[in-house]
This record gives sequence, C-alpha cells and structure tokens, in this order.
Amino acid sequence: MKLERKEEFTLDQYTQIAIQKLFAICFSGYPSDRIYFKQLPCFRYLCWENNELIAHMAVDHRVINNENQHLRIFGIVDLCVHPAQQHKRIASKLLKELENLGQSSGVDFLLLTASDAGFYKSNGFRAVHNSCKWLLTADHQSLGVIDRVLEDGLMIKPLASKKWKDGTLDFLGNIF
Ligand SMILES: CC(C)(COP(=O)(O)OP(=O)(O)OC[C@H]1O[C@@H](n2cnc3c(N)ncnc32)[C@H](O)[C@@H]1OP(=O)(O)O)[C@@H](O)C(=O)NCCC(=O)NCCS
Repeated sequence: MKLERKEEFTLDQYTQIAIQKLFAICFSGYPSDRIYFKQLPCFRYLCWENNELIAHMAVDHRVINNENQHLRIFGIVDLCVHPAQQHKRIASKLLKELENLGQSSGVDFLLLTASDAGFYKSNGFRAVHNSCKWLLTADHQSLGVIDRVLEDGLMIKPLASKKWKDGTLDFLGNIF
C-alpha cells in the first residue's frame, strides 16, 4: 500500500479520475462531474494499491472563530475507503497521519461534520454543539450566511493546549 499527500493543484488527470471513481462507489449522490462537494480542499491523502485508489481524505486548512478565539484547524472532508478494503484500519491510519501533521505544524484542532459519529468517536473525536455561522453555497453560488446549530454532528479533536469553547463557531467560509 502506498500512501501519499498531494496539494490540490498538483493532482493530474489520472488521479482526479481515480478519485471520482472512488467517490461514486463510496458516496451515494456525490456530484458526478467533480471531486469536491462545495469547494476545493487544500490537500488530500491518497492510498494506492496496485495503481488502484483504495482510500481518500481531503483536508481544508483554515482559521475559524470559536467564541472570539481564533483557531487553526484542519477540516476533514470526504474520508472514504473502498468497500473491499474496509475494516483494515486504513481510515484510522489516515486520521493518525493528519493528527501527526497537525501536531507538528501548529494546528489546534481537527474538525469535521459527520452523520454517523461512531467511527470518529472510536478515533478520539468528540461531538460539540456550538451555534454555527457559515457561508451557504450551492451550485457554485453564494446564497448567504447561515446562523444555527448544525444538523450533521460537528466533531472535534484537540491537537494542542487550546480549549474548545461552547459558544459560537464562525467557520469564516463554507462548511467542508
Ligand atoms: C467510515 C469509513 C471511512 C471507515 O473506513 P475503515 O478503513 O473501514 O475504518 P477502520 O478500519 O479504520 O475503522 C473501523 C473501526 O471503526 C469503528 N467504527 C466504525 N464505524 C463505527 C460506528 N458506526 N460506531 C462505532 N464504531 C465504529 C469500529 O471499531 C471499526 O472496527 P471494525 O472494522 O472491527 O468493525 C468507511 O466505512 C467508508 O468509506 N464508508 C463510506 C464513506 C463514509 O461514510 N465516509 C465517512 C464520511 S463522514
């Protein structure tokens, strides 16, 4: 198994098609014409076996505002493992790689939204219930700023000494 970390702008067409194919298998209803849901990520982890892409995780690097404390975060997007390769700790390994990278590069928290919290809880994430503010986009258009608690669970994992606050959370952009 080969694991690589690629900046978004370096992805060649072969890799983009491989990601698109994996998404079609792993996510129902993912837009078939692109490899991002709302916005391009900053970088991706890609896991290959025999030239086949078997796992993927995209990451957004951003500053967010948590009750007036400015936090550097890695936002986790589109984590998936090919069904034939699941239950081999591959997704957990990708999260651990990102955690190590964040700890060595001044990132305060890992953050994600998940409809099923179980897998992330087993990897040390915890659910938080902040009132959130974010830029709503659809079909490549900005529709306005939303202000409410998220329906999909918001989950965090601290990487440094900063404490998460229960108040408001401003994503300073769209939700990943
Ligand atoms: C979720 C996903 C990425 C996990 O990938 P994976 O490589 O199989 O995960 P790992 O092997 O690292 O970890 C699996 C372990 O996590 C834990 N786990 C997984 N789902 C869980 C749940 N719902 N509740 C509790 N624990 C759970 C279990 O301990 C599980 O161990 P098991 O394999 O012995 O059952 C994979 O199932 C997937 O791609 N699903 C489709 C896409 C998706 O839903 N992505 C998440 C978007 S939020």
